[in-house]
Amino acid sequence: MDEITQDKCRELRGMLAQAGYAVFFGGAGVSTDSGLVDFRSQKRGLYNRPSEYSASPEEMLTPKFYEENPEEFFDFYRTKLLNLAAPPNSVHYALAEMERAGVIKCVITQNADNLHQRAGSENVIDIHGNVYINTCEGCGRRFPPEAVADCPGVPRCGVCGGVIRPGILLFGEVPDMKLAMAAIREINRSDLLIAGGTSLKVSSAPRLLDRYRGKLVIINDEPTPYDSRADLVINAGISEVFARIWP
Ligand code: OAD
Ligand code: ZN
Repeated sequence: MDEITQDKCRELRGMLAQAGYAVFFGGAGVSTDSGLVDFRSQKRGLYNRPSEYSASPEEMLTPKFYEENPEEFFDFYRTKLLNLAAPPNSVHYALAEMERAGVIKCVITQNADNLHQRAGSENVIDIHGNVYINTCEGCGRRFPPEAVADCPGVPRCGVCGGVIRPGILLFGEVPDMKLAMAAIREINRSDLLIAGGTSLKVSSAPRLLDRYRGKLVIINDEPTPYDSRADLVINAGISEVFARIWP
């Protein structure tokens, strides 16, 4: 890490020490060091790679594709998105410790991987859903993620035969109202918002950031549309940054 970036990490440490209510807003880049994919990064993004399927990944993550091509959807979901073996990484653990120490009050995440909860964070708002919540479309029964991960083809409820729908938000769907409201409440309370590992390009990000008036810090290895609005931009790997700000 170069010296300017190290200085910026020191500045962020100072901002965290001063903050009254710091909130972390994360995206796919928080989980890449756990072995999960991100969507839009130039180098690795799922949306920037050729698709082995009949449609692009963006199209496959729409309600229309899910309904019309469930076999292919579930194959894609299991192969590319769901990775139950991926462990939380140092950033997830640091955020959980920071919450226990009162340094971070809340994690709002666009990731559905449940890794913040597995690392021990308690106040987590999964605005794009959670792969651990799977619901039968027929009878509403809940299923663990293994019910979707460990079966061939379309996962079905053993009781009513309905399709088991993974609890993730698809493109064009509206986020759960309760979660969206909770995220807005946290953003309104916050005087320091750290956006990390997110391109800040889609839906939830602009909706939340456009109403935020406090200090904004961005940690991302690529530029984002909010860099000019931010008080501090750290262009670096998020694990390296967290290693310098915590403990
Ligand atoms: P994106 O893939 O759009 O952005 C992730 C950003 O993290 C990219 O700019 C990467 O360059 C950066 N990044 C990756 N690994 C990093 C690392 N180790 N350190 C620092 N930066 C890193 O993902 P999101 O912003 O989360 O929605 O995307 C938002 C939503 O778009 C997702 O929740 C998903 C997707 O469509 C749904 O599934 C509904
Ligand atoms: Zn059922």
